[in-house]
Amino acid sequence: MDGSMVDLKPLRWIWMDGKLVPWDDAQVHVLTHGLHYGYAVFEGIRCHRTDRGSAVFRLDEHLVRFLESARIYRMKMPFDLATLRRATLDLVAANGVIEAYLRPIAFSGYGQMGLDPTQSTTRVAIGMWEWGAYLGAAGVENGVRATVSSWARMDSRSLPPQAKCAANYANSALAKMEAVHAGYDEAILLNAQGLVAEGPGENIFRVKHGVVSTPPASSGILRGVTRDSVIRFVADEGLEFRRNDFTREELFTSDELFYTGTAAGITPIREVDGRPIGSGSYPIVRRLQARYDDAIHGRTPLYAEWLTYGS
Ligand SMILES: Cc1ncc(COP(=O)(O)O)c(C=O)c1O
Repeated sequence: MDGSMVDLKPLRWIWMDGKLVPWDDAQVHVLTHGLHYGYAVFEGIRCHRTDRGSAVFRLDEHLVRFLESARIYRMKMPFDLATLRRATLDLVAANGVIEAYLRPIAFSGYGQMGLDPTQSTTRVAIGMWEWGAYLGAAGVENGVRATVSSWARMDSRSLPPQAKCAANYANSALAKMEAVHAGYDEAILLNAQGLVAEGPGENIFRVKHGVVSTPPASSGILRGVTRDSVIRFVADEGLEFRRNDFTREELFTSDELFYTGTAAGITPIREVDGRPIGSGSYPIVRRLQARYDDAIHGRTPLYAEWLTYGS
């Protein structure tokens, strides 16, 4: 179940356009508009095991970002926050899977073709599947090997990175494939100014002399929900935090580097382009991982407001 690619193991239900439908019936026509032009916005959310059953982590923050992605793209969203929240919880309960990755997606449907999708109907679905740590459990433990991509992160003058639009992931896939085919685990994308932006599906953080930093939203990143959680953990650990740009060289001279994301969790980076990072131990990453683990599994009242339970 580890790793970037996973074979989908069908569950029973998918939520689609307002109701639960059997997994195999959640189909679209091959001439669906969003499939042709990448006009789809989506989310990645996780639910985890807690003492009170399955809990979805930061559900509202993800759904708000989902609605905002649609707004950026003038996509008419036929469901409001409350409906999407209920739909997500109903789906988790119906499938009876406690730990899973959840994928809301909204896309322009079948009927019209052409490049102004505002006349299209919006279809909305939520799928879920079981998915281990995106960069592997061994990666979370021992760190992953990263390379700086030759592909620049697209910027907001071409595709707005703060909208989680399917089209953005063509840029991500180019970087990911390049990294994997060169023997690395993951890519780091610079922005058009040559400053560090993010991974193909993760934000990035750096630790230097005990100060934790991450590139600002203006560097051309998706504002990660995990990034936001980690910023809170850094404060709660009493560590200094800065939201600032850093350069490619500063990757190499970091004491610790790590990716954050719903799929990847908090995954340390042990090497960038053949340069080992820091001492190879991750003292600050370990503290943040411990807080994250406690938060998602409901083991601390500190972050209890971030969990939504099914009933
Ligand atoms: C490009 C990109 N950056 C960052 C992230 C991390 O965001 P989050 O922590 O909300 O999952 C993701 C994952 O959604 C992503 O696709």
